[in-house]
Amino acid sequence: MPVVSGSNGQNVAESLAEIMKMDYIRLEDRKFPDGEGYVRVPSEEIDRIRSEPVILVSNTYPDSNILKTILLLKAIGDVRKGDLSNLKGEEPQKLQDVGKGIILAIPYYGYSRQDKRFSKGEVISARVIANVISSFCDGMVILDLHEKKVMEGLDFPIMFVSSMTEIAEKLQKEVGPDFILSPDKGAIDRASKVAKLIGCEFSYLEKKRIDAHTIEHTPKDLDVSDKIVAIVDDMISTGGTICRASDALRRQGAVEVHAACTHGLFTGGAISKLANHVDGVHSTNSLSNPRGLVSCAPALYRGIKQLLEII
Ligand code: R5P
Repeated sequence: MPVVSGSNGQNVAESLAEIMKMDYIRLEDRKFPDGEGYVRVPSEEIDRIRSEPVILVSNTYPDSNILKTILLLKAIGDVRKGDLSNLKGEEPQKLQDVGKGIILAIPYYGYSRQDKRFSKGEVISARVIANVISSFCDGMVILDLHEKKVMEGLDFPIMFVSSMTEIAEKLQKEVGPDFILSPDKGAIDRASKVAKLIGCEFSYLEKKRIDAHTIEHTPKDLDVSDKIVAIVDDMISTGGTICRASDALRRQGAVEVHAACTHGLFTGGAISKLANHVDGVHSTNSLSNPRGLVSCAPALYRGIKQLLEII
């Protein structure tokens, strides 16, 4: 079963192929001079793409990768259907349809935070993307999706997986936290799982987002005096949430504060900003970033195994 990718997701796809003991295939993926994307299944890989189910690893972030993901899925789909018709007259132009078997593994699902109509007239972007993408594949595996509810009612096989097990292992090995904090109610399930795996204390904060760059936490007494604390979230973008939570922890006597997340977006100089507030930042490689040292491939593999049993 080949694991394939374009340029986006290549590192994750290569590790996934290694874990699964499968071949990795790099699909052609480049840009035209005007910036439009071009994808192609290389001629020499057509047989392998048709021989077994295929796993495409691709992020839907940034925007250009949404389109790239759709184009890659369609290219794979045409090859598997046997539609090889082409103007150059390359043979064969038509082969037998080999049927279902395209799995999309998404390390970072872009637009996941636009999961509700917060204000009238808005679009639920996360749902729109799922509607489009699901028509080009037979199942999806999504890593640490911000809010699973956005996919409710979608008549399509999706496995939701999490890297919290690997994050807990990393924190236990390198940080040794006494206390895990969820910086908002949305991250409680994930962060409490990490606390349980490590076997340490846990609490959460209540957060109000004022705008994309400003958040407020409701003050709360936390028993963190002289403790090493790790704040665990699904993603870090501007770093605002983590910095504010870290400040609150330090005011209450925490001796060390670390931040951990699955998706390290680290926008607008977040890494330097975080360096002034926390002692360490740990993330998976769902997005490539300098702190992405936890592999997200094991989590994706767990979902792929489950998905293969039902599709
Ligand atoms: C939102 O609820 C998410 O779970 C994260 O807490 C948030 O996206 C982090 O964003 P930032 O780093 O910009 O505060």
